[in-house]
Amino acid sequence: MDLRLFMSQMENLGELRQVQGADWNLEIGTITELSNERKGPALLFDQIKGYPPGYRVVTNLIATPKRVGITLGFPGDISNVELARRIKDKFKILRLTPPARVQEGPVLENVDREGRIDLLKFPAPRWHELDGGRYLGTGDMVIVRDPDEGWVNVGTYRVQLHDRDTLGLYMDPGRQGRLIIESYWAKGRSCPVAVVFGIHPLVWMPSFLAFPWRTEEFGVAGGLLGEPLPVITGQYTGLPIPAHAEIAVEGDCPPPGIETRVEGPFGEAPGYYATGAHDAPVIKVKRIMHRNSPVITGAPPMRPPANAASLNVIRSGTMWLELEQIGIPGVKGVWNMRAGSSRFLSVVSIEQKYAGHATQVAMAVMSGSEGAKYGRFVIVVDDDIDPGNEEDVLWAMATRCDPATSMQIITGCWGTLLDPTISPERRAKGDLTNSRAIVLACRPFYWRKDFPKVNRASDELRAMTLKKWGRLFQS
Ligand SMILES: Cc1cc2nc3c(=O)[nH]c(=O)nc-3n(C[C@H](O)[C@H](O)[C@H](O)COP(=O)(O)O)c2cc1C
Repeated sequence: MDLRLFMSQMENLGELRQVQGADWNLEIGTITELSNERKGPALLFDQIKGYPPGYRVVTNLIATPKRVGITLGFPGDISNVELARRIKDKFKILRLTPPARVQEGPVLENVDREGRIDLLKFPAPRWHELDGGRYLGTGDMVIVRDPDEGWVNVGTYRVQLHDRDTLGLYMDPGRQGRLIIESYWAKGRSCPVAVVFGIHPLVWMPSFLAFPWRTEEFGVAGGLLGEPLPVITGQYTGLPIPAHAEIAVEGDCPPPGIETRVEGPFGEAPGYYATGAHDAPVIKVKRIMHRNSPVITGAPPMRPPANAASLNVIRSGTMWLELEQIGIPGVKGVWNMRAGSSRFLSVVSIEQKYAGHATQVAMAVMSGSEGAKYGRFVIVVDDDIDPGNEEDVLWAMATRCDPATSMQIITGCWGTLLDPTISPERRAKGDLTNSRAIVLACRPFYWRKDFPKVNRASDELRAMTLKKWGRLFQS
């Protein structure tokens, strides 16, 4: 659970590279993007311009499927859909393991209290050219406790650095963390908040995955780690804070009537600056804790197919698990295309077992924790199609989908302000709903046996031919 050990393991595997002397102002962000597009290694930035050596930023830590696999303890060379399957299976047997309270931890190496708060001491990058400021929080964890039920939610939301003791928070409507903060505001109270800015990816992962209401992400992290996550108790908020965090802050998020600041614009994961500059909640920071030579874990959103954390692979696994958990039979694979910003283009392959099965699958994807928000197209294919092979999926769409009869549009779904298709007028009215297309790119169930045969050599003929003629195909 120690980020530093993880980084040195990655470096030994040739999966992490150190970069000295980059500028926090756009250079770190642009190098990260260029390297991500080339599927390069994780990048550890040190000697950042204007900052003491050792004050570091790491990016692209789990940006490739291979590094996601290594992080979760799988071999690095398995196919994408196989990786999604293993993620599904890992989460299926995962036992929620509550965190363990400890008195000490590396995060307490340096503690700054009120009067000495200066968030500007950290090299928060300005990631993208049109960003409205610097963002300390991208690969972060925002920790809040439900005021009525007492459980602790952890979510990843972008955190802007406004000034020495003020942070800005962007939480999309309907986020569990936001619902909790709003319930403090409804009682006329500020919400106590803790934020972690540098953390091991296994501890981070649950905070950006969608779990049912009341699921404690620290318990999921413990399940992934195979042991309870050690947490200290924040002195200001009483909230649990991972003892191995690189940087953590505590403070209050006051009701909007008391204080907001202009947040954004910010380059977002669908590939646009859709939320623009707008009034957003703030966190008034009262306490900073950090390790010596702290490392900020950066995960800046980028225009797809660039992706800060191979989210499409991880979400494919958790979305697949949801379909299994509600008991839908015949699901052979789930894949969220990288171009679809991890949830706009979801593909499910099924062995069709009854009329309506394919539509049921599509509706379940759109209603589960992972797919309810953010989706756009759910494409259902037969089990002879590898959902992770995007050309095969497009072939199935091109040949098995009759748009007049195989597509359905659902309107009024749970959308996001990040959706670039929501017009300024609808944004102003607060109408963030979107529409979804169900695309049945599979043979119609009731005459599937009469559907024309596929023009491709059979597996047996291929095997025989390769046995005899294999030398022709050796490079
Ligand atoms: C790198 C990264 C950045 C994210 N930034 C935001 C954000 O700024 N605002 C937001 O609402 N969700 C953001 N998300 C998505 C949420 O973290 C995710 O939906 C999570 O499940 C929310 O948790 P919650 O439902 O417990 O609130 C981000 C995810 C990742 C991986």
